[in-house]
Amino acid sequence: MRAHARIAFTLLGAAAFGCSTSQPASTTTAAAPVPTSGDVTERRFVDSVLAGMTLEEKAGQLNQLTGLGAPTGPGGAPAGFQQIRRGEVGSFLNVVGRDTVIALQKIAVEQSRTHIPLLFALDVIHGFRTIFPVPLAESNSWDPAAAERSARAAAAEAAVQGISWTFAPMVDIARDPRWGRIVEGAGEDPYLGAIIAAARVRGFQGTNLRDPTTIAATVKHFAAYGAAEGGRDYNIADVPERTLRDVYLPPFQAAVCAGVATLMAAFNEVDGVPAHADRKLLTDILRGEWHFDGAVVSDWTGIGELLNHGVGADSGTVGRLAMNAGVDIDMVSEIYRKQLPSLVRTGRVDRQTLDEAVRRMLRLKYRLGLFQNPYRVGTTAQARAVALTTENRTAAREVARESIVLLKNDRNTLPLSKNVRRLAVIGALAADSGAVLGNWSAFGRAEDGVSVLTGIKRLVSPRTRVVYERGAGPMNDDTTGIAKAVRAARDADAVVLVVGESPTQSAEAESRAIIELSGAQQRLAQAIVATRKPVVVVLMNGRPLALQWLNDNVPAILETWFLGVEHGNATADVLFGDYNPGGKLTTSFPRVTGQVPIYYNHRNTGRPPAADNKYTSKYNDVPWTPLYPFGHGLSYTTFRYGTPRLSATTMRPGDSIRVDVNVTNEGKVAGDEVVQLYVRDDVGSVTRPVQELRGFRRLRLTPGETRTVSFAIGVQDLAFYNADLARVAEPGTFTAFVGGSSANTIKLPFRMETANGQAVAVPGTCESVR
Ligand code: NOJ
Repeated sequence: MRAHARIAFTLLGAAAFGCSTSQPASTTTAAAPVPTSGDVTERRFVDSVLAGMTLEEKAGQLNQLTGLGAPTGPGGAPAGFQQIRRGEVGSFLNVVGRDTVIALQKIAVEQSRTHIPLLFALDVIHGFRTIFPVPLAESNSWDPAAAERSARAAAAEAAVQGISWTFAPMVDIARDPRWGRIVEGAGEDPYLGAIIAAARVRGFQGTNLRDPTTIAATVKHFAAYGAAEGGRDYNIADVPERTLRDVYLPPFQAAVCAGVATLMAAFNEVDGVPAHADRKLLTDILRGEWHFDGAVVSDWTGIGELLNHGVGADSGTVGRLAMNAGVDIDMVSEIYRKQLPSLVRTGRVDRQTLDEAVRRMLRLKYRLGLFQNPYRVGTTAQARAVALTTENRTAAREVARESIVLLKNDRNTLPLSKNVRRLAVIGALAADSGAVLGNWSAFGRAEDGVSVLTGIKRLVSPRTRVVYERGAGPMNDDTTGIAKAVRAARDADAVVLVVGESPTQSAEAESRAIIELSGAQQRLAQAIVATRKPVVVVLMNGRPLALQWLNDNVPAILETWFLGVEHGNATADVLFGDYNPGGKLTTSFPRVTGQVPIYYNHRNTGRPPAADNKYTSKYNDVPWTPLYPFGHGLSYTTFRYGTPRLSATTMRPGDSIRVDVNVTNEGKVAGDEVVQLYVRDDVGSVTRPVQELRGFRRLRLTPGETRTVSFAIGVQDLAFYNADLARVAEPGTFTAFVGGSSANTIKLPFRMETANGQAVAVPGTCESVR
C-alpha cells in the first residue's frame, strides 16, 4: 500500500500541490480566506487518502502523542518509532528541534503503510525564540496590528524548526484574577478579545497555510474555561447560556471567522456537561451555527478525564462520547487509538463520524502542504537566520513599550531623570532576565532576556550610580535581604522597587487564593517606603494583583507584566521618559482579593451600589469599585476630550450613528491615548450590562495636537441574546460613553427605533462579529 499516497499525487497532478514559498505581503493582512471543505481538489485528495486507510490507521490519525519535555498533565509516554511505523500516530506535541522532526517524519512517510505525514505541534503562545509580551500584557497595548505582528514573527521562527501547529490563541474571557491562566488571554472584555483573537489567528496563519512561514492556529479553550469557579484551575464553570453567548463565545467565533484551522476543547464542564462531551458546543454551535470546518483537538488527556468528570465509566464510553460530541483529535489519552476501531465495529460510533474526523485531520495536513512537503522544516542556516533577528527584537521592544500601563503617577514622580545621582534598584525580580519572559516561553532563553536592572543601567547617564539589592522575592518568605535593601534605599536619591510574581505563579495550575503581594515582598515594600525616599514601583506579574497598600503608599506605579526579551529596555524607556506610556488595562484590578470576580461590564442589580444607602450592593469593609478600572492607564501628558457629537440621536436597524470626539494633547510631550467607546442598553427585555466596549482607537498626539476620532454605532453593537436566546437588538434608549477609561467617560443618549416597535434579529454572522 506504499503506492496509496503516490496514486493520489498522480491522480491530482503535482501542480495542485504547489507549495508557496512567497513571504506574506505585509504583517497586517486581511482575514485569511477560509478554505471550504467544498474545495473539489482538496476533497478528492482527502477522500482518496481516506479510502485506503484501515480502521486502526484512521484511529491512529486522531491519536496525538507527546514528546519529552513540557508535559502539562499526567500520562504522555514518548511514542516509540514502532507506533509511527504502524500508523498509530497522527500528530505530536512537544517534539521540538528540526533534526528530531525530520527523523520522525521520515519514518512516517517512508516506513508507514499509508505514508501520511505527521503533524508537529507546540504551545507557541507569545513567541518562539523571540519572546514577546505575555498575551495579557500585549492586550494592554490595544494594538491588534502589533498582536498580529508578534504572532507572525513567532510563526516564522517556529515553522522553520518543523512546528506546523500552535495551540494559540487562548481567548478565554477571564473575570477572576485568581485564575492563573488569565495571563494567556486578552482580559475580561469580549469585544476587545474578539478583535485580538482574530488578529492573532491572522498572524500565525498568514493568508495561506502553505506558506512555510505560517503555522496553523488553535483557538482555545472551548468554552468558558476562564469562568472556573473560585478561580481554581480546571474547576467547573457555571455559566448560563446567555452569558456564554454574550460574553465567552464571541472571541471564539471571531477566530473561526478569521479562518482559524483548529479549536481546542476546554477541561471544564459547563452546567453539568464537560466540554469534551458537549455536542451542543462542539457540533451544534461550532459547526452548525458557525460553519467551522477545521479540526477539534482535545486538551491534554481531556478525553480520559471524562472518567473523572463522571459521565462515563470506561474508556470505550468516554471515547464514544467525545467522538460523538465532535472531538476529532485525542491529545495524549490514547483512548481513540485503543477504542475507536471496536467502537465502530460494534456500531457505537458511526463509521461516517470517524471518517469525518479523519478527513478534518487530513485536510489540515493538506492545507499545510504536508503531503507535498512533509519536511516543512528550514535548514539550520535558515533557522538561525530567522531566530531572534534585529527586526524581531525591535518589534518586541515596540509592543513591550506599548503594553506598559502607568497605574499611578502623583506629582509627576515619573519619568525619572537620567541624571539622578544614585539610584537604588531593589527586588529579586529586577535582576532576573529569565522572569521577564513569562510563562509558556517556548524556546526563549534567559540569556536573551533584558532584565529591568540591565535596561536601567543601559539608559542612565554614565554619572549615575545604580546600586542593586535583591531585598526579597515573590516565592519565599526570606527577609534576610531587606536590611541591606533599606540601606541602599537610604543612600539613594530615588528607588525603583520591582515586585510582583514569578512567571511560574501566573500559569496553568497556578491559581492563587490570595493575590496580594506574595513572599516577603510586602514587608520589603513597607521597609523601603519607610525610608521616605521617592519610590517608583515597577510591577512584574501575569495577573491583576490586589495593591491597595502600595497604591496608598507609593507615588508612582508602573505595570510592566512580563514583556518578553525586551522587557528591561522597554521598562527603562518608560521609566526615564524615552517612551511615554499609553497602555490601558484590559482587566479590572481589585483592591483586595475578596472583591473578585470584579469586572466593568457587570449588570446593574436592583440595588446598584450607592454610598449613602446601606441596603445596596456593596461591601461594608472595602469600596465596591476596583482600584484600577478596565481601560485605565495614565500618561506623561494630559489629554482633553471635547464634547462628543452624534451624527443623529435616533437610528434605525439599517443605519449607524457616527460618534465624533476631539482629543487634544494638552501637555508638553507626545503621547498615545486609547480612546474608548462604550454603549449601554438602558432598558432591555433581559438585564443588560452597565457598559460594553464597542470601539477603541489608539492614537499618538504631539503636544498641542487635536485629532477627531470617529466611531460608528450599528445595530450589531446593540445586539444581545434575549430570553429565547435569539440574538436581537431592541428599540429604546441607549447611552454612549466616550473617554479614556471605562470609569472616566462623557455620556450621550441616543435611540434606536424599529418600524413596528419590535426587536430586530441580528444573526451572529461573521459580518456582525469582529
Ligand atoms: C494543557 C493546556 O490546557 C493547553 O492549553 C495546552 O495547549 C496543552 N496542555 C498542551 O500543552
